Amino acid sequence: MFITLEGIEGCGKSTQIRRIKTFLESKGMTVVQTLEPGGSALGATLRAILLNPKNSDITGLTELFLYLADRSQHISSVIKPALDRGEAVLCDRFADSTVVYQGYGRGLDPKLLHQLNSVAVNSIWPDITFLLDLEPEIGLKRALTRNFQENKHATEGRFEAENLAFHTRIREGYLTWAALNRDRFVVIDATGSREDTFAAIKKHIHFKLQANKI
Ligand code: TYD
Repeated sequence: MFITLEGIEGCGKSTQIRRIKTFLESKGMTVVQTLEPGGSALGATLRAILLNPKNSDITGLTELFLYLADRSQHISSVIKPALDRGEAVLCDRFADSTVVYQGYGRGLDPKLLHQLNSVAVNSIWPDITFLLDLEPEIGLKRALTRNFQENKHATEGRFEAENLAFHTRIREGYLTWAALNRDRFVVIDATGSREDTFAAIKKHIHFKLQANKI
């Protein structure tokens, strides 16, 4: 079972991913929790490059190829081996982040990005992709509070510093892309409490498990 979580900054992916992990483990599954960029050993180095505000002069294409390189390595060294062992994989961001951030966000062609993703993922697509949807104003406020608390604004602030218009494009891009990929996307309203959001996620996983669809 391969589940990915997507959404704008501050939508609560990390909290929900931890809860999903606990839930699946309570059903007896072995769960690999991972993330992009940075889910493999090589990827950790790529993540540091991608999220370093000092690299703000990176070109759109360079950024794209680094995300794709990270994904290709992640699939072959972490995700595929875990799925082959029969384990569940939970991934915080995946190929859809590239279509949305580099495509709808930065203006590269979403169709081309989907094709490049297809090469990078080597036919491994998620069974379910949860899109945690909320207004960018709320997401940014949550992300800034979190960064301040974790004191990581010095190293991981590049995307959060982008303007509201960019994040609005990202949110709309996600909704458009989700509508084009209804077979695997589940849009969850993430404006409410963490409990409400998790209840909606759990309900869907439960339904899929009952129906033997994952
Ligand atoms: P991260 O600190 O993991 O943010 P979040 O907690 O919001 O997931 O930073 C990941 C950033 O990288 C995020 O702003 C989205 C961006 N990104 C892309 O632009 N393209 C991609 O393909 C991926 C995987 C992430």
